[in-house]
Amino acid sequence: MFKYLKNMVLSLFGPENIKKMLPEVEQTACRRLQRWSIQETVELKEATAAMIFDLTAKKLISYDQDNACQNLRENFVAFIKGLLSFPLDIPGTAYHKCLQGRKNAMKMLKNLLNERRAMPGKSRSDFFDFVLEELQKEGTILTEEIALDLMFLLLFASFETTSMALTLAVKFLSDNPLVLKKLREEHETILRNRENTDSGLTWKEYKSMAYTFQFINETVRLANIAPVIFRKALREIHFKGYTIPAGWAIMVCPSAVHLNPAKYKDPLTFNPSRWEGVEINGATKNFMAFGGGMRFCVGADFAKVQMAVFLHCLVTKYRWEPIKGGNILRTPGLQLPDGFHIRLMEKTRME
Ligand code: HEM
Repeated sequence: MFKYLKNMVLSLFGPENIKKMLPEVEQTACRRLQRWSIQETVELKEATAAMIFDLTAKKLISYDQDNACQNLRENFVAFIKGLLSFPLDIPGTAYHKCLQGRKNAMKMLKNLLNERRAMPGKSRSDFFDFVLEELQKEGTILTEEIALDLMFLLLFASFETTSMALTLAVKFLSDNPLVLKKLREEHETILRNRENTDSGLTWKEYKSMAYTFQFINETVRLANIAPVIFRKALREIHFKGYTIPAGWAIMVCPSAVHLNPAKYKDPLTFNPSRWEGVEINGATKNFMAFGGGMRFCVGADFAKVQMAVFLHCLVTKYRWEPIKGGNILRTPGLQLPDGFHIRLMEKTRME
């Protein structure tokens, strides 16, 4: 079942499809940045979450926030806030709001499913249509419940993580002017080498962003967006004098590795160049920002495309100054309690 679902998801977020999405990702980033640049200030975490949710929800369920009668993202925000909370289900608690958020979002997805069943001929060619087709196949192992759960999982897994990574990326750039300079140089070189500066990003250009990939790796290493990863001991394990009995749950804590000075020199220093010459696709036992093994994040490539393309538009066309916020709290999930407010300005040709 797991392999079957994973293959379904990879048909949307696998490398071949992501390649096709590149122009759309670029357009979305450019439009949003343009919109933010005419605002007085922008709270980046909220703004990037809305941008990514809109793009992903469009691909998955053709959801259009502007024309929707209910706000789907609001329910996910409530869900995420109480995800790691004391399990007391009474009105007013984070846990209660989390359960309500999940219930409401599932209700909206179920309504959508019913609407589509009522109007079968109308093709929207999104992921939900593809899942519906699978549901109707004779002898399929997919059930309606699993299909809805999958849609919920994908919407949840895709927008909170990438928006947090992007917000922290901009914060790290604000705090490290030399890194910003190097990143900008890489992206301006891409524009300089083009015949027409205004033509969109190509896959080849995307693949050439060596420093950007180092920068993204360093961002997710320090950010530790997923505070824990869960595994199960399939057999008895002996480790440093301890015995973990078969069947026990294991909570892996990526930050214990990512911030270990024996693995990373000066682990709290933001230094993208530490990744120079290092194979940075996939996971190792020293790098698990996207998990590892069989359960490695299926959206890792998509997240990197969204981040790299956003950074490309940001550093080539804009400059910014932090206004307030940017303080990081772990509860244990990563939070920005005061957000991260910036003022975004279009760059002049001389800058
Ligand atoms: C910077 C962005 C992201 C980070 C840091 C991140 C991190 C992670 C981590 C740590 C896991 C757990 C892996 C494990 O247990 O080994 C995971 C799983 C997963 N991620 Fe992501 N993720 C990101 C973006 C995305 C996006 C954009 C999507 C959707 C397209 C996505 C979909 C998923 C799914 C479906 C799983 C479950 C995979 C499974 O159980 O096999 N993620 N992610």
